[in-house]
Amino acid sequence: MTAKTCIHPLFTNSLVFIFIITLLPCFLHAQGLKNTAFYETSTGTLGISVGAGGVSVGVGVGVGVGIGSAPAPEAPNYPPPPEPEPLIFENERLAVVYPVIHRFKKSITSDPHGITNTWVGPRICNYTGFYCDHPPDDNSLRALAGIDFNGYQLGAPTLDDFVDQLPDIAIFHANTNNFAGAISPKIAQLRYLYELDLSNNKFSGQFPMAVLGMDGLSFLDIRFNSFTGTVPAQIFTQPLDVLFINNNNFMQTLPANLGSTPVRYLTIANNRFVGPIPRSIGNASATLVEVLLLNNQLSGCLPYEIGLLRSATVFDAGNNLLTGPIPCSFGCLEKMELLNLAGNQLYGQIPEAVCALRNLVNLSLSDNYFTSVGPTCRNLIKNGVLNVNNNCIHGLPNQRSVGECSAFHPGSCPYPPSYSFSFIPCELPQSPPPRSIHSSKPSTTTAAFVSSHRSPPLPQSLKNKLN
Ligand SMILES: *[C@@H]1O[C@H](CO)[C@@H](O)[C@H](O)[C@H]1NC(C)=O
Ligand SMILES: *[C@@H]1O[C@H](CO)[C@@H](O)[C@H](O)[C@H]1NC(C)=O
Ligand SMILES: *[C@@H]1O[C@H](CO)[C@@H](O)[C@H](O)[C@H]1NC(C)=O
Repeated sequence: MTAKTCIHPLFTNSLVFIFIITLLPCFLHAQGLKNTAFYETSTGTLGISVGAGGVSVGVGVGVGVGIGSAPAPEAPNYPPPPEPEPLIFENERLAVVYPVIHRFKKSITSDPHGITNTWVGPRICNYTGFYCDHPPDDNSLRALAGIDFNGYQLGAPTLDDFVDQLPDIAIFHANTNNFAGAISPKIAQLRYLYELDLSNNKFSGQFPMAVLGMDGLSFLDIRFNSFTGTVPAQIFTQPLDVLFINNNNFMQTLPANLGSTPVRYLTIANNRFVGPIPRSIGNASATLVEVLLLNNQLSGCLPYEIGLLRSATVFDAGNNLLTGPIPCSFGCLEKMELLNLAGNQLYGQIPEAVCALRNLVNLSLSDNYFTSVGPTCRNLIKNGVLNVNNNCIHGLPNQRSVGECSAFHPGSCPYPPSYSFSFIPCELPQSPPPRSIHSSKPSTTTAAFVSSHRSPPLPQSLKNKLN
């Protein structure tokens, strides 16, 4: 049961490594939004300029509410109620969404912050949570381009006939509200939608299949809801940048094409995914930056293809049922900062090549059945980077009992680890690390999306730019 060792090449000369600290943007959303208007996606193909003075077209879609009635002569001395403003809209596109918004407003069951009190009159672009911009197909006017209800705690039984009836919407963020129901298939008709954040609501039912055809969509966040069933395999061929489906009730084996995904950030944590990590994951080597698979019931051996993820900084498959040794290929994860495999059934020797990874800030391998560590790994234990508590490593403190270790029977692998275990798909560095001065925390972005229900707010710079 002891695994072969991944031999670390001898140290011949020492090189000077320059570490470029990449500051991940504070907000993932800002990836798509940083210097741009609502209709500019992260790929910038819809480029629309902001700031050409809005043309007030003043299309008179008079809905005839404008005539105030004079107070009756005997009325007591109350000041007359303010006259409702005539509904003269800036343009036809805003006129069209007015009844949609007001129908939705009537359906709202809770509004603890009084947000909807601002949803009055014809100036829709001034309603709290609503943002306007020039639509891609007409630079001369403003349309309803974005909605940001993050944190408003609005309640409504459904978003049906609301979001799907806002034809110019590009961004819909509704983190931390009490919206419920299923997602209407009609959202497929929203041609400009590229960010959809429905996280931390009370949505239920199947995965919103309507998103599958939406090729403009780049950000999909449905975490912290009660979606059930399976995630369609096609979502992994869709040109998304971010896919967050953690903290739902998805229950299935991971689709074999998972590695076809072009996303940079993938979190499927805290669901009930079973079976092996698909070997295709290596196909995402150029793009995948953070992968969070923790707290599922994934089983089988770690495919060596994970070691191909040369862009990855975070790989977290903690608390699953994974078994086998750690493949030597993991020594190729040169950008890796946070590698968490704690709480599985891994065994063998911890590869020295993994402990030699220069950017590691946190290597968590506790609660497994590893039996030995080499000198490089021992150094990491000393530095507090590597945690091997509750394994079967003779001579180290806080290990499992001898009885527990001898009673361990590893799970089975759908493909035997033997042939691929020692395969190293890269040239390992010639020298053991002159370790860099790390920040004490890995620069993880997605971890916050698993541990917290919240989404970051829309950047203020963007808010200021619009309206
Ligand atoms: C929109 O609201 C702001 C204050 O929030 C106000 O200064 C501005 O005049 C309003 N615009 C219109 C067109 O009412
Ligand atoms: C994706 O991965 C699978 C399994 O590793 C491999 O057989 C296939 O050739 C890969 N496809 C591409 C396009 O790289
Ligand atoms: C390392 O990562 C594990 C798993 O994500 C986490 O539980 C632990 O607190 C981290 N350790 C440090 C020192 O940050």
